[in-house]
Amino acid sequence: MHIVNREKLKKLQERETQRFVAEHPRCAAMYARAQGSLLGGVPMNWMKKWAGPFPVFVKNAKGAHFHCLDEREYVDLCLGDTGAMTGHSPDAVVKALAKRASEGITLMLPTEDALFVGEDLKKRFGLPYWQFTLTATDANRFSIRIAREITQRPKILVFHYCYHGTVDESFVGLKDGVVGPRRGNIGPPVNPAETTRVVEFNDLNALEDALKHHDVACILAEPAMTNVGIILPETGYWKAAQELARRYGTLLIADETHTICAGPGGCTAEWKLAPDMVVFGKAIGSGIPGATYGCTEEVAQRISARIHLEDCDVGGIGGTLAGNALSLAAMRATLEQVLTAKNFEKMAARAVQFNDGVSAEIKKQGLPWNVQRLGCRAEYMFSAKTPRNGGESAAAADFELERFLHLHALNRGVLLTPFHSMALMCPETTEKDIEQHTAAFSEATEELVIA
Ligand SMILES: Cc1ncc(COP(=O)(O)O)c(C=O)c1O
Repeated sequence: MHIVNREKLKKLQERETQRFVAEHPRCAAMYARAQGSLLGGVPMNWMKKWAGPFPVFVKNAKGAHFHCLDEREYVDLCLGDTGAMTGHSPDAVVKALAKRASEGITLMLPTEDALFVGEDLKKRFGLPYWQFTLTATDANRFSIRIAREITQRPKILVFHYCYHGTVDESFVGLKDGVVGPRRGNIGPPVNPAETTRVVEFNDLNALEDALKHHDVACILAEPAMTNVGIILPETGYWKAAQELARRYGTLLIADETHTICAGPGGCTAEWKLAPDMVVFGKAIGSGIPGATYGCTEEVAQRISARIHLEDCDVGGIGGTLAGNALSLAAMRATLEQVLTAKNFEKMAARAVQFNDGVSAEIKKQGLPWNVQRLGCRAEYMFSAKTPRNGGESAAAADFELERFLHLHALNRGVLLTPFHSMALMCPETTEKDIEQHTAAFSEATEELVIA
């Protein structure tokens, strides 16, 4: 098997950086100007993580493609880290937004669209009641509050290397088996060990040991981990994990924000899971801010019994713009016309094509890497074996190598997410788009292994 030559990798990275800078004079100028008004030269700190020395500034985007200010066209396999899994600006959503925007954007009053969306979500996920927020982070935070309130327990449980948005309780990890703040955690309000138990995914014994304390209100989990590579549950894992949760009086919150890629009702529907609550954000409104959380009849009754009308605006759940008319119009059009079963089929077929292409190249070059898929999401990882949990996957991470492959792809017109090596398909992603990625990947891996 080929081990990557680090000296060579450095040289290749330098070459790609020079090419990127030479080909993006307008983006470079924009970035220089941005230093004067934007902290770090970007509107949001994650945008610094792109593989080049500065991000490409976007001129326009449609479907699976976008153009930068230097008039270069890209195949977008990042798709706003799932916010645009629907493709950029789908026509149906643009039309619904234009209509709604001209008829009132936010009122703190319901519109009929909310009912359509609630009824649609009920069919997709099988849970009867839904509420809306602006972000998946908020939907997770509110679900956690509800779980704490109705169980009267202080802690939550998450998996090692999970990501559920900027939820304080989830910025936590295991070091030598001890729970503590996750690396990079900025200004934690308390040591998250006080609020959170952490176990590895796919480890039922560890899960039971953690739940045995009877102090865990909820498990907040992606049904398959997607934020540290793609890690699928082992056969029977969720059946047993759900039984444990029930036995110890802990609620299960399925965060389907990314795993919606598995199908119209996410993994909950695909794998017939029975969570107490479901969270779904990002793509639900084609990128228009909006997210949702749903709950079972039992959770609904338990929480209703504890909320008093007079206090319902100060309980730590809600938001002035949450459930606004514009978000709900976007969600309705997205669910009705974009995130359809037919489109999911098309998207999954492209992800299969992506995996087949990458897998063949890995084999050809004899690299100790693997590629994984969940519906329309695919990801290659730098270990020969597919990891079973977050710890194993994180141990195989290779920031230097990842940056080279991302920049190399970007210079050949393909954008991957800046976090690990994830590729996402939208309804407009074409066979040709995926061939373009495979060709770039083939070229990069060949260069890496040639002495
Ligand atoms: C699984 C999961 N849940 C929640 C979130 C938070 O989404 P947002 O940043 O839109 O609040 C993310 C973001 O990456 C996520 O991956």
